[in-house]
Amino acid sequence: MLAAYGAVMAMALYDRLAPWYHLLDPAPDHEPEAAQLLETFRDAIVGTRETLLELGAGAGNTASFLARAYACTLSEPSDAMRALSEARNPGSVHVGGDMRSVRLDRRFDAVLIHDAIVYMRSREELRAAMETAFVHVREGGAAILVPDTFRGQLREYTQLHEADEDDRSLRALEWCWDPDPEDELCTVEWSFLARRGTEMLAIHDRHVEGLFARQVWVELARDVGFDVTLAARPLEDVDPGVADAYASEWLVCRRRT
Ligand SMILES: C[S@@+](CC[C@H](N)C(=O)[O-])C[C@H]1O[C@@H](n2cnc3c(N)ncnc32)[C@H](O)[C@@H]1O
Repeated sequence: MLAAYGAVMAMALYDRLAPWYHLLDPAPDHEPEAAQLLETFRDAIVGTRETLLELGAGAGNTASFLARAYACTLSEPSDAMRALSEARNPGSVHVGGDMRSVRLDRRFDAVLIHDAIVYMRSREELRAAMETAFVHVREGGAAILVPDTFRGQLREYTQLHEADEDDRSLRALEWCWDPDPEDELCTVEWSFLARRGTEMLAIHDRHVEGLFARQVWVELARDVGFDVTLAARPLEDVDPGVADAYASEWLVCRRRT
């Protein structure tokens, strides 16, 4: 049984804190990875490379660079996050929808599921998201799936994020830990102090995320029908102090012609 999106979504970062999101995750940081995604799609896709669907596109930061090469359709379930992306990417098509179930009734040359895929919290959910990617890729096209980390690689870490812009300031502590090493979940505790002028908002935001072994990712993607390879991904936007806890590969999933 898949959890309802509302249950997954009790995350302040993508709702009440959306006006501060750009301070935590600035769009320019996404450029190196977006360039590598474009190169990987170029090598993987047979035939035209014109249309791209991103599932869980968030604020549209990565998409803003992909949109220079593709006509993008950006799917994002949070109204607040989709509004950020609409402002950043006015030339892209925006739709609501959960990556486990959304069906747009069309196919694309390229499909991307970037960091939003961490919110798949069981193998069933991860498989459902991969199936959504598969049904939206045309024959000869490709999907890229981007795990944050793999089970067995994660370690506990903390990071402090600080940024200021005009009358908004954000201080955030990110504390990643694994409450039960026996299961396929991990937790990121976020502690936010968000200030606007003299008003201060304090929020503890718990993000429960899926944690699957590399082999599980590959087997599930093959199971939905993809030809799968692993390719190196850049980690330039990740703090060097925690880069070892991040996956250094993403899944390149081709749909056979
Ligand atoms: C870290 S943000 C993505 C940021 C994005 N990579 C960017 O470049 O702006 C993660 C996003 O995942 C979305 N999300 C969470 N659960 C989801 C689901 N089941 N289906 C689709 N998106 C989901 C959240 O609403 C949030 O916008």
